[in-house]
Amino acid sequence: MDQSRLLSLSTAFSPSAPIDQRSLLAGRVSQLLDVLNVVGQKGQHAILFGERGVGKTSLARVISRLSIGQPVTVVSVNCDPSTTFESLWRKITKEISINLAQRQAPGFLSEARAQSASLDEFLPSPISPDDIRHLFGRLGKMLIVIDEMDRIKDKSTTSLMADTIKALSDHAVDTTLLLVGVADSVDTLISEHQSVERALMQIQMPRMSPNELEEIINNGFQEAKMTATGDARKKIVSLSQGLPHYTHLLSQTAGQRAAMTDRTEVTAQDVRTAIDAALAKAQQSTISAYHSATSSSRENLYPQVLLACAMAKPDNLGYFASIDVRRPLSRIMKKAYDIPAFAQHLKAFCDPTRGPVLQRTGSARRYRFRFVNPLLQPYVLMNGIRKGLIKETDILA
Ligand SMILES: Nc1ncnc2c1ncn2[C@@H]1O[C@H](COP(=O)(O)OP(=O)(O)OP(=O)(O)O)[C@@H](O)[C@H]1O
Ligand SMILES: [Mg+2]
Repeated sequence: MDQSRLLSLSTAFSPSAPIDQRSLLAGRVSQLLDVLNVVGQKGQHAILFGERGVGKTSLARVISRLSIGQPVTVVSVNCDPSTTFESLWRKITKEISINLAQRQAPGFLSEARAQSASLDEFLPSPISPDDIRHLFGRLGKMLIVIDEMDRIKDKSTTSLMADTIKALSDHAVDTTLLLVGVADSVDTLISEHQSVERALMQIQMPRMSPNELEEIINNGFQEAKMTATGDARKKIVSLSQGLPHYTHLLSQTAGQRAAMTDRTEVTAQDVRTAIDAALAKAQQSTISAYHSATSSSRENLYPQVLLACAMAKPDNLGYFASIDVRRPLSRIMKKAYDIPAFAQHLKAFCDPTRGPVLQRTGSARRYRFRFVNPLLQPYVLMNGIRKGLIKETDILA
């Protein structure tokens, strides 16, 4: 058994941690350029939005570590349900220390050191958008990354943030805000505050394309000095459904299986075994979400309909329509199924008693659905393969 190869596989793939180096970031070139353009323009800000797990934090981290040309102070903070406008800006400004020594008469070094202060001390309480504009207007170029915007519960925080963007932009302050969150956070920010629309570039992070996912596979195996057959790569890509977490997880696990038997080429059979390991490694929350969605004492079509939903082709934001479920379900059941036969199931999936596992938008007859937790979708697929409800070839199509 090649220990060193096993070790390099553990660093070549990162199923759980966001990436922070440009060399490890696959694809995402247009989004990277969009953000860089915004950073270069005074008065412009950006919101990076997309489904859970598509790679938003990774992109934001890579950008904050790129040297953008001129000296830029970069601050990154995360939001949580207790975040308010006040706590958010305290957190940001605590990260920035400024040197007061320059303003004092030249003294001893030890004195100068004592003069450095955190920017937080210059903010009044309570903080208003105009205070932010005023303070940052006196400082050099900054990039402030605010991740997990969608976790903020307090409504007034969102509208104060919109006012802040407007104020920074109107006064051409050289600070760029990069907001990061799931798609719905854009809607709340924009719909209620139309005036920020011009100052805020909306950068969508769609699921990753097959080529981008293949780049993750190739980069990782190259680093571990391994290769993967075309079939193995294709299988990992189609199981991942555009979500890089699974690409990392399946590649790493399949690679480990090959390395354990001293092979440097990963085969489709290794990926098949990796499915079992990936299902076993799934988070307890994913497993219980699956069970509460599909359990039933009487009728038992729930697992099949959920599987068909996972096979339905989603749009950029993960939504699919009832009609998209028809064909995969007919394939699973080996007989034609029409919408009325499963419409009730789709409705039930949106009910809290089944999670809800799906979320519905649009109006009657034009409903669109998506998985509340997109990471459940590949789990449902892999589970379907393991239970023999579908064959692997069914999802390669
Ligand atoms: N461009 C990329 N190239 C390679 N791996 C990536 C890329 N983007 C994301 N990943 C990997 O995918 C996983 C999820 O990425 P990340 O945490 O950045 O997503 P996210 O959109 O911020 O998720 P969440 O919505 O849960 O915050 C991580 O394991 C990360 O390493
Ligand atoms: Mg994230």
